[in-house]
Amino acid sequence: MKSAKNYIEENKERFLNELIDLLKIPSISADSAYKKDVIATAEAVKTSLEKAGCDVVEICETPGYPIVYGEKIIDKNLPTVLVYGHYDVQPPDPLDLWESPPFEPVIKKTDTHPEGAIYARGSCDDKGQMYMHVKAMEYMTQTNQLPCNVKFMIEGEEEVGSVSLGWFLERNREKLSNDVILISDTGMIAKDVPSITTGLRGLSYVEVEVTGPNRDLHSGLYGGAVANPINVLAKMIASLHDENNHITIPGFYDKVEELTTKEREKMAEAPFSLDAYKKALDINDVYGEKGYTTNERNSIRPTLDVNGIWGGYTGEGAKTVIASKAYAKISMRLVPDQDWKEITDLFKNHFESIAPKAVKVKVTPHHGGTAYVTPIDSLEYRAAEKAYEATFGKTPIPQRSGGSIPIVALFEKELKSKTILMGFGLDSDAIHSPNEHFGIWNYLKGIETIPQFFHYFTEMKK
Ligand code: BES
Ligand code: MN
Ligand code: MN
Repeated sequence: MKSAKNYIEENKERFLNELIDLLKIPSISADSAYKKDVIATAEAVKTSLEKAGCDVVEICETPGYPIVYGEKIIDKNLPTVLVYGHYDVQPPDPLDLWESPPFEPVIKKTDTHPEGAIYARGSCDDKGQMYMHVKAMEYMTQTNQLPCNVKFMIEGEEEVGSVSLGWFLERNREKLSNDVILISDTGMIAKDVPSITTGLRGLSYVEVEVTGPNRDLHSGLYGGAVANPINVLAKMIASLHDENNHITIPGFYDKVEELTTKEREKMAEAPFSLDAYKKALDINDVYGEKGYTTNERNSIRPTLDVNGIWGGYTGEGAKTVIASKAYAKISMRLVPDQDWKEITDLFKNHFESIAPKAVKVKVTPHHGGTAYVTPIDSLEYRAAEKAYEATFGKTPIPQRSGGSIPIVALFEKELKSKTILMGFGLDSDAIHSPNEHFGIWNYLKGIETIPQFFHYFTEMKK
């Protein structure tokens, strides 16, 4: 029987070229100008699942972008793995910072990726990682080694908050029934340090609008006498953290899960170099909540960050003006057991309460999601551990991530199954950023490791 390693070696070029073709379609879910491309990508994913050996593949319409569903049921008595991924991507801006166009994939060698990496928007998040599962499926069906049933659910709205997914889950509980959910949409510590993501943060995303005078004003005639909404917004935002970088919203930390000293010690064992971290980002120092390490700050602690802020004159040269309005987009990353709707309300009430009488404030919630943590003694986790041991020769390190995939908590609630997050991206792969890339080594290692999970999970379920 052919090993995955051999199969991958023989088909490597094709595996790369197929992914490159998929990356050429600009499936930007946030921008309605790309609607046709998002839909074309769903079609391309459908075709790829058919070719990989699914017996049934459907494009399922939702109130938003379609969900591609595929399945191969070999025996109703065998376990079922549900693979989730997303075919939509983040907007590529700022375009001028890309070394090559975001939707014209190129392969470049780097120090981290001496075998080469594919540069394109979505290469790592998540087309490349999603496509590893399609190719792993192809390998298992082509070599008669699919050990259990498999279902695919690939959505097109993850980057805009998976707005239609709840709707779809409610209506397709039976269709989506499974024994475990498998997702590759996270990262790993390093190529020689395999890790399994055991936690994701939740999210509350809001937009704020501060209005001062009813029109833009001459900053000489009115400056100093009326509230400048940009000054006021800056001051309000600055007040959301205290001198220790704790968030000042009353009640914000009430439900935050505090880890035990033992748990924190265990976390600190994961290899991490603060110097390398600072060097990679060109910063002289890190910055964050007092009393916590960098890895704690970006995984087990909640945060509040401005993602964008605008207003007034930003064109060439100088214009003396007091703008009528100022805006900001703010995200709060949440941890167990914070409730994102509750946090959104706390934010709204607090933000409105700190506004001076001289301005009007509007808070508009966007989307949110619940944090997720998974145990490391479950059958599902142990099967994943064995899969990594088989292909990396090392036991993977459990690691809580700071990112969010809000549907994971929803899956557990609605479908009552555990999720295994087998990510193969690196933090340096620049997801959501210019020059996003995905290492060819990582891509192929993922394709090799996934069938091992299917194997061990099926064996251990028996
Ligand atoms: N794949 C990412 C999430 C991720 C990346 C988790 C790396 C862990 C490690 C996902 O596509 C994403 O970007 N999620 C968004 C949230 C979503 C609601 C827009 C995020 O984390 O900002
Ligand atoms: Mn993703
Ligand atoms: Mn993303």
